[in-house]
Amino acid sequence: MEKEPTRVLVTGAAGQIGYALVPMIARGLMLGPDQAVILHLLDIEPAAEALNGVKMELIDAAFPLLKDVIATTDVMEACEGVDIAIMLAGFPRQEGMERKDVMSKNVSIYKAQASALEQQAAENCKVLVVANPANTNALILKEFAPSIPEKNITCLTMLDHNRAIGQIAEKLNLHASDVKNVIIWGNHSSTLYPDVNHATVTTTDGVKRVRELVADDHWLNKELITTVQQRGAAIIKAWKLSSALSAASAACDHIRNWVLGTNKGSWISMGVYSDGSYGIQHGLIYSFPVTCKNGEWSIVQGLKIDEFSRAKMDATEKELIEEKELAYSCLGQSI
Ligand SMILES: NC(=O)c1ccc[n+]([C@@H]2O[C@H](COP(=O)([O-])OP(=O)(O)OC[C@H]3O[C@@H](n4cnc5c(N)ncnc54)[C@H](O)[C@@H]3O)[C@@H](O)[C@H]2O)c1
Repeated sequence: MEKEPTRVLVTGAAGQIGYALVPMIARGLMLGPDQAVILHLLDIEPAAEALNGVKMELIDAAFPLLKDVIATTDVMEACEGVDIAIMLAGFPRQEGMERKDVMSKNVSIYKAQASALEQQAAENCKVLVVANPANTNALILKEFAPSIPEKNITCLTMLDHNRAIGQIAEKLNLHASDVKNVIIWGNHSSTLYPDVNHATVTTTDGVKRVRELVADDHWLNKELITTVQQRGAAIIKAWKLSSALSAASAACDHIRNWVLGTNKGSWISMGVYSDGSYGIQHGLIYSFPVTCKNGEWSIVQGLKIDEFSRAKMDATEKELIEEKELAYSCLGQSI
């Protein structure tokens, strides 16, 4: 019997990442080659014509798995019955804008969209926030959609995870698929911490630790970390636009692993609510290593954390606590 189509909401669908992401979803790269989808595309009124253009292209591509496309500027209509919500909509930082102004715009968007999802989405809807500040937008969404289980609200750090894998593979002249179990801890920002202490590489001589094979602590403890933290800015400098293709691909990786499960012996990085694991403040949306099974993620437990890692994990946690305070002050509420 054919499976029911999965309804996938993409907010900010007329934007750059949206344009790269929707064909990936329609081709089965997010939910698998046997899962039909119905795309719900949301954008704002000034982008309505562009959004319609995206819908026209989706129709023209005649994707076999794509059963329908709903393109709308009405948030309530967009959220109706969705099983998965990919939140790309956000207000970008513009020249001369203070951090607080950007936060204030985004917090209001996420408060409103939380309420629409809470009222309209399917039970057990899984949410992935991509728009920046991704962790704090997800936190606001979680706080203002209390009936959505907190385990269902996540943010994207898989792009940073993939970036770290890509750098290691380049350094060792291997393929990305040979590298696994890097970790991104913390905030999707320039304080994120790519940790390679548990990462391994499959070679013709068997599985080796990345630290052993790279054998260059300066590169691992400095260059790699800075490169991953600053990669977004480097892409903007080179391409003149912010990363879209890699962000869309990472969003597919995030949802595919979450829904279909992580490979045996592997984990991914996901921004999820903290249950206090590794001493991280309870309730923050913080990126941890997770494994996924039966549509549920679990934080990988018991990894040894050295002093170097501890300091970096605490620094990115501190930034998230400050962002949370700023977000609440924008809403005129105390924590
Ligand atoms: N977490 C990550 O790894 C990661 C990586 C890359 C980009 N990002 C972030 O993802 C977001 C999207 O990036 P992009 O390059 O596609 O941006 P973009 O500006 O091209 O697209 C954003 C879209 O959102 C729409 N939008 C704005 N407010 C909206 C609202 N209230 N409701 C519905 N739509 C709304 C805009 O009209 C626009 O079409 C940005 O915030 C970016 O910083 C995150």
